Amino acid sequence: MQSAAHDSPGWQLNLNAQKALTLSGQIWFLIAAFGQWLFVAYVIGFYVPVLALGGLPGLGDTHLPHGHAAGDLVGNLAIAGHILVAIIIVGGGPLQLIPAIRNRFPALHRNLGRTYLFFAFFTSIAGLYLVWTRGVLGGLAGHVAISLDAVLILAFGALALRYAVARQFDRHRRWAMRLFMVVSAVWFFRVGMMFWFMTTGGIGIDTETFSGPFIYSWYFGQMALPLLLLEIYLWASAPQRHGAAKLAAASVVFVATAAMSIGIFAAVMGMWLPRIV
Ligand code: HEM
Repeated sequence: MQSAAHDSPGWQLNLNAQKALTLSGQIWFLIAAFGQWLFVAYVIGFYVPVLALGGLPGLGDTHLPHGHAAGDLVGNLAIAGHILVAIIIVGGGPLQLIPAIRNRFPALHRNLGRTYLFFAFFTSIAGLYLVWTRGVLGGLAGHVAISLDAVLILAFGALALRYAVARQFDRHRRWAMRLFMVVSAVWFFRVGMMFWFMTTGGIGIDTETFSGPFIYSWYFGQMALPLLLLEIYLWASAPQRHGAAKLAAASVVFVATAAMSIGIFAAVMGMWLPRIV
């Protein structure tokens, strides 16, 4: 039998608000996973033929500013490995966050988790090597921001692993979600930038030099904004939180999902699809 407190309007409001919040998180995740798999389709559709037909020098004929350097075998292997690893981690990452897969196939979750961590660490170190030997667009801000992303991936990955081994699954889940956000930062960068182009025409972006206030702030926003959104979601999901806070958080997640959907559409149409057709 339900208690009188469970029949009260306040309790019902909290329950419905929690349902709205959970739904907002699920829709956000489904759209993000779909958009990430479109990015994987682009990486397969564009880079696999480039490497298969042209080998490592083939990367020098792409849009990458530093895709190939004669005589630098380590750097050339690092960039090819870095790009191909995106297929594994961006393709496999969302699967780790689906509760049904985690609960029904725990061995798959463990093995995919180890593979994911290994390659996320590998690609971050390869990325760091490339940034500081070949450079990236966006000047010092670009160098510092993408290096910070690599450091966050290494740190959050270590924490997710530590709490999994210690069987502290609530903490493991939180750090794994944070890890997903920072591994996805490069994807958020592209989606956010294309959202900005589509909605403002590119205010604050100098396309000649790939610089400007928007680029500099979005280099850090690519990590900060998704992490902030996640923390809002986790904070509002706590059982003791009031219904109004849960509804406010759900609204924020819905707005972020709408912006992300526009960005995915713009990235596919304006950046990824034209390179493979
Ligand atoms: C872990 C998630 C990451 C993924 C999935 C990823 C994926 C990619 C992909 C697909 C490209 C090719 C660019 C394109 O066609 O759009 C690329 C380029 C690159 N990435 Fe990453 N990346 C990640 C993280 C990082 C990190 C943390 C760093 C640096 C510390 C980094 C450094 C680079 C560099 C230097 C390039 C070449 C860009 C150039 O030539 O200027 N990446 N990455």
